[in-house]
Amino acid sequence: MSEPVLSISGLTRAFGGLVAVDNVSYELPGGDLRAIIGPNGAGKTTLFNLISGMLDADRGTIKFRGQDISAKPPHAISQMGIARTLQIKSVFEGLSVYDNLWISAHARTQRLSPFRAASSYLDTSRIVEEALEEIGISRFRDEKAGNLSYGDIALLEIAIALCMKPNLLLLDEPVAGMSPEETETVVTKIKQLSKQLDIVLIEHDMSVVFGIADVVTVMNNGAILCEGPPDEITRDERVQEAYLGVPEDGES
Ligand SMILES: Nc1ncnc2c1ncn2[C@@H]1O[C@H](COP(=O)(O)OP(=O)(O)O)[C@@H](O)[C@H]1O
Ligand SMILES: [Mg+2]
Repeated sequence: MSEPVLSISGLTRAFGGLVAVDNVSYELPGGDLRAIIGPNGAGKTTLFNLISGMLDADRGTIKFRGQDISAKPPHAISQMGIARTLQIKSVFEGLSVYDNLWISAHARTQRLSPFRAASSYLDTSRIVEEALEEIGISRFRDEKAGNLSYGDIALLEIAIALCMKPNLLLLDEPVAGMSPEETETVVTKIKQLSKQLDIVLIEHDMSVVFGIADVVTVMNNGAILCEGPPDEITRDERVQEAYLGVPEDGES
């Protein structure tokens, strides 16, 4: 048996008296597309912050391909092959799409080859070109990121993460606030990408992940409530209960 991509055990993180992530164990075998869903405040983003090293855990361990990354800083974790996007969109709005990608790709190639400055510039451009092509945003390459539509900014953010050349990509609500058409475009792209690298997708809205995720994990109150294929999860009464009190927009 090969090592799981991610293996999380007993992970706990509190903010004052609030236990945002409460004794979570989670395993990502790799090779399929996974989603983590749950109501607002469930602890989804905190879990990603712990995995990516942006927060330290109070307890528990995180292993990436068998290596303990629990105490590693964010740059070391991204260098090992985990990239993430943030729930709050965070591109450089005043810079072009190309330059946004270049900064990310350059940060990576510099870290890998600090003594090969000239060739690393070539590597950087190649990585940027690949990301533009891969995500299908080449036509916006010279556009200021701030001028893009919400859907295209989400694609740019995914492209920025791809410039880190990750093996594991963590996406935090990539389609939040998007129109159905934009959602469709981004979701299709995520599904395509998941054939090349491992992806874990956080999503608040269950319906978004049901068409694409192979396995859905539900979080509530900092803990994992259940995990399974989408059709099983929709029927689970505990999941429906967890979502009560968070009515869908436009319903009454
Ligand atoms: N930096 C922080 N300081 C204090 N409380 C936080 C912080 N980050 C998250 N929380 C709290 O932890 C809980 C889980 O938050 P979060 O992980 O963002 O949930 P989700 O992403 O599932 O909506 C929430 O109650 C939130 O208010
Ligand atoms: Mg969140």
